[in-house]
Amino acid sequence: MKFKVFDSYEELSAYSAELVAGVIREKEDAVLGLATGSSPLGLYEELIKLYEDGNLDFSRIRSINLDEYVGLDGTHDQSYRYFMDINFFNHINIDKKNTFVPNGIAEDLEKGAKEYDELIESLGGVDVQVLGIGPNGHIGFNEPAEQLNLNTHIAELTEETIKANARFFASEKDVPTRAVTMGVGPIMKARKVILIASGENKAWAVKSLVDDLISTTIPATLLKVHPDVTVLLDKAAASLL
Ligand code: F6R
Repeated sequence: MKFKVFDSYEELSAYSAELVAGVIREKEDAVLGLATGSSPLGLYEELIKLYEDGNLDFSRIRSINLDEYVGLDGTHDQSYRYFMDINFFNHINIDKKNTFVPNGIAEDLEKGAKEYDELIESLGGVDVQVLGIGPNGHIGFNEPAEQLNLNTHIAELTEETIKANARFFASEKDVPTRAVTMGVGPIMKARKVILIASGENKAWAVKSLVDDLISTTIPATLLKVHPDVTVLLDKAAASLL
């Protein structure tokens, strides 16, 4: 894993955008594995700027998101589909038909999960996977556990994750307790991984990523065996290193 520490989140974001742009310039129909949440917001802003300046073309790009809350449809303002549309897709020339987010309201969630894996397979896997990291070390919604799933599955969110995500909802009890999430399989098979961590509340998880042995109780530590991971940190996230 390569680590880079930046003085500011803005610099981190600009750098992350250049990494993703590099993949897009090399492969015009690249598959972007995308995350939601605070961490990649700056990346999306920078990619939008590159597009607006005529420096990036998304017309043939495909994207596949990591996760979606169970029970929220794409029009709900806290759904991850909505997040992706308003923070990124609506501002670039990507064809929405080529953007995929798990279906959190499928009648048969298990079937939907299986179909999501088939979709990832049919896209040829992920060229560059963007990840945030949970304060507990989760990636996607692969939460700390004795065992981790390779495939897309329905995850029960931990107390800690529900608390961390409550900031986006009216109250903690409005946070969905389950999510459909990509498993660790496609993440580990992605040709390139960029993990973004910013803020003091990520410092513990980042320290574990660096210092701890590989363990399913800190899912991000699996990335230690991936051949091409770049971890981008701001000073606060790197403060315990
Ligand atoms: C989001 C996701 C999560 C987040 C993580 C960090 O699609 O899969 O793993 O990346 O919870 O969230 P933020 O960036 O909001 O701190």
